Amino acid sequence: MTDRAPFASWLNDTNDVISVFLSAGQIPGLINLGGGLPSPDVWPVEEIAEISGRVVREYPTETMTYSPVPGLPYLRDVLAKRYSTDNVPLTRDNVLVTTGGTQALSLIGQVLLNPGQKIAAQSPTYLGALDAWRPRTPEYQPMILEAADFDPVQDMTGAQFAYTVPNFSNPSGRLVGLEQRKELLAAAQKTGAWLIEDDPYGKLYYDSDPLPTLLELSGDGTPYSGPVIYVGTVSKELAPGLRIGWIIAAPEMIEALATAKQGSDMFSSGVCQMTAAKAYEEGVADNALPRVLALYRARRDALCAALEKHLSDHLTWEKPCGGMFVWAKVKDPAIQTEQLMRRCLDYGVCISPSSVFDPEGKDQSGIRINFTLNTPEKLSEGAKRLADTIRSFD
Ligand SMILES: Cc1ncc(COP(=O)(O)O)c(C=O)c1O
Repeated sequence: MTDRAPFASWLNDTNDVISVFLSAGQIPGLINLGGGLPSPDVWPVEEIAEISGRVVREYPTETMTYSPVPGLPYLRDVLAKRYSTDNVPLTRDNVLVTTGGTQALSLIGQVLLNPGQKIAAQSPTYLGALDAWRPRTPEYQPMILEAADFDPVQDMTGAQFAYTVPNFSNPSGRLVGLEQRKELLAAAQKTGAWLIEDDPYGKLYYDSDPLPTLLELSGDGTPYSGPVIYVGTVSKELAPGLRIGWIIAAPEMIEALATAKQGSDMFSSGVCQMTAAKAYEEGVADNALPRVLALYRARRDALCAALEKHLSDHLTWEKPCGGMFVWAKVKDPAIQTEQLMRRCLDYGVCISPSSVFDPEGKDQSGIRINFTLNTPEKLSEGAKRLADTIRSFD
């Protein structure tokens, strides 16, 4: 018998590290600091249950049959209104509804990348973006925004697009400052590269008012046609299970992305689109926000206090002013953080290693620690277990 046709070669670029830490959440008794999950305490269960039932009854056509590829006009209008400012007037032609932010990233890769083309990516880089673009086999130019000699024009020259998470990056928790936002935009204008603003954490500011988005900064008061491709999601504002995301961009980009979406999943669930539309219109996300911020701020503080207590000899980190993660460097260069992650599982805690946020999979110096999922007590116990694991390398 002849051999079966092989899998595509990009699959050889993966290893088991990602699946090990993503599936670790299932291990009984384990404290999961490795994922990026919202707290179940903030899921709007009753509101979504009521709205989803109501929209099916009141909008049977929108919810029960096939939807238009770019999204239901109702939701596109709600989103256009939600993101419009005097500087950035938006219409539904600027909006594509996607199946989560993850599909948005994947579609962007499909419409902008021929195999081997270059992406300038904020470093370290969100794992899901690396996964979404892996089949396109891109080349990466890391953008190290905190480097003293960071030069966005140099990094973005020759790139199809630059990728950044300006609000509390996943994994680094870093906030890109106003001046650097302007520099990124100026570089996009100069080089012709598109500028992806991936913004799931844009509402999660714990210590100050939000900075203007790249989208807001790039408007000129006329119908939006700038270089920013803004990616949003309900995942951190309502619930990830709804699987609704969106892209806001110039109409020509939305049209190209809709062509890619047609061959991907044709349309996103009408039930979920209408539920998201009504939830935003009726203020479910906005009303929940103060409670979400208070809960997450307290958990961020609890994790940082626990790190200070148990891990200051072993890790360095900066307290993030928003988002969901603390990014820490291991002081002992002999400890490889992939190995640390595996050993942590024996000690009943999970963290994510820096290698999964490196396009080359090589960085073994850091870990990402999530603080939104667990109670302060569990965060403290998780930090203690992590300290025990690190000490076991002595
Ligand atoms: C930076 C970033 N982008 C995009 C996403 C995608 O989210 P979703 O597919 O749930 O909308 C996430 C989720 O954690 C994220 O952290």
